[in-house]
Parts: sequence; C-alpha cells; structure tokens
Amino acid sequence: MKATKLFNSWVENGKDEGMEKNHSASVNEMIKLVPNYILNNSFSFLDFGCGNGWLVRKFTNYDNCIKSTGIDGASNMIKKAISNDNESKYIQFDLDNIYSFNQKFDLIMSMEVMYYLKNPALVINHINKNMLNPGGVFIMGIDFYEENKSSLSWPSKLDVEMFCANKNKWKDYLSLAGFDKVRIFQFGKKNDWAGTLVLSGVKI
Ligand SMILES: C[S@@+](CC[C@H](N)C(=O)[O-])C[C@H]1O[C@@H](n2cnc3c(N)ncnc32)[C@H](O)[C@@H]1O
Repeated sequence: MKATKLFNSWVENGKDEGMEKNHSASVNEMIKLVPNYILNNSFSFLDFGCGNGWLVRKFTNYDNCIKSTGIDGASNMIKKAISNDNESKYIQFDLDNIYSFNQKFDLIMSMEVMYYLKNPALVINHINKNMLNPGGVFIMGIDFYEENKSSLSWPSKLDVEMFCANKNKWKDYLSLAGFDKVRIFQFGKKNDWAGTLVLSGVKI
C-alpha cells in the first residue's frame, strides 16, 4: 500500500491526532538544533511531510517566522490542516516527485517521513541543492532505521513499503548531498527502543 493511502485512512479514524502527542518530544529536541541566526531573524519554514499540520501551526506562532508551509501527499491530511489553520500555507504534493519543486526556505524539518520515500538520498540531495537558502538548515527525525530493531516489523504490520538504512548510511546521505556541520544522535532510547534518529545539516 502507498503510505499516503494509509495516512488518509488515519485522518478518517482520527488516528492522525496521536502523531502530535507521539512525536512532540523528539520534535522539540530537533527544534533545539535550530541556530539562533535563523530564529533571531525573519525566516521561512517548511514541514516536509506535515501530516495534519501541527508543526506548521507551531512555527506560524514564532514571531520571526514570516512564512510557514506544510507539504504532504495525503489529501485528507492537507484538507484537515487547512480546515484548522487559515494563516499557514499547505501544499498537497508527492514527495517522491519533489524534484520539480524549487521553492526555497531557511529551515526545513521532517519528522517520521523520509523512510517512506523511494529514494531518500536523492530527495535529500534535492533539498540541499534546490530547497534551502544559503545557511539554511535541514533537520530530520526517523524512528524506522536498522539499529531500532523494534521498528523493523512495521512494513509488514502496516503493509507499507519502507526504506531501511543504518545510522551511518543516513549520515552519508546528508554529507554526500553537500550538507555542512552534519550532526546525528538518537533521542529517547529506552529498553529495546533505540530512539528517534535525528540528523541535521547546514546548506553552504
Ligand atoms: C508518520 S506521518 C508524520 C506526519 C508529521 N510529520 C507528524 O510528525 O505528525 C508521515 C507522513 O508522511 C506523508 N508521506 C508519506 N509518503 C509520502 C509521499 N510519497 N509524498 C508525500 N507525503 C508522504 C504521509 O502522508 C504522512 O502524513
């Protein structure tokens, strides 16, 4: 099944509401990586795979955020985001075809999205080359990766294809795309849960 089909059904049964609750702690940790030179000046924000728009709304409330945009392929997610928010901008778009999308931002964040893509390395390269202003920052978080053993059953459980790579591979994707100051860490490790794998980089 295509991931966007699954997430359309999550809106129908209200399951999308749980994503803010379940992802907030990791996303708050990711926000701590945003440099002050971005937050203290006017900046534009994109949530790459925004779901129902909760993070887009959060950035719309930042004083210096002059444009907060969400992009997602699930029509129900985008409809719900728009129905809750008339200040931000939402775009329905298949992220596997992002190569024709060339709007630029100062900050791009993506939580629990990149492994649904067919070719995350190419997409990360496109983000670096065509979607960030110089000095712009990309921050991504994923819970599905090789070292997080308890996540590895998700593709068969959910009947959705997911791209599996280890921590070093994900780090290479950012470095090879040309990102500078690449950082990587796991947040929220607990028992057999390896935590959210967080990566960030700066566009030169
Ligand atoms: C787990 S949800 C995370 C949503 C949001 N980032 C959050 O934290 O609440 C994954 C999102 O990725 C979107 N997605 C997955 N594959 C996609 C694709 N090929 N194109 C566009 N969106 C996609 C889904 O529609 C869904 O909203």
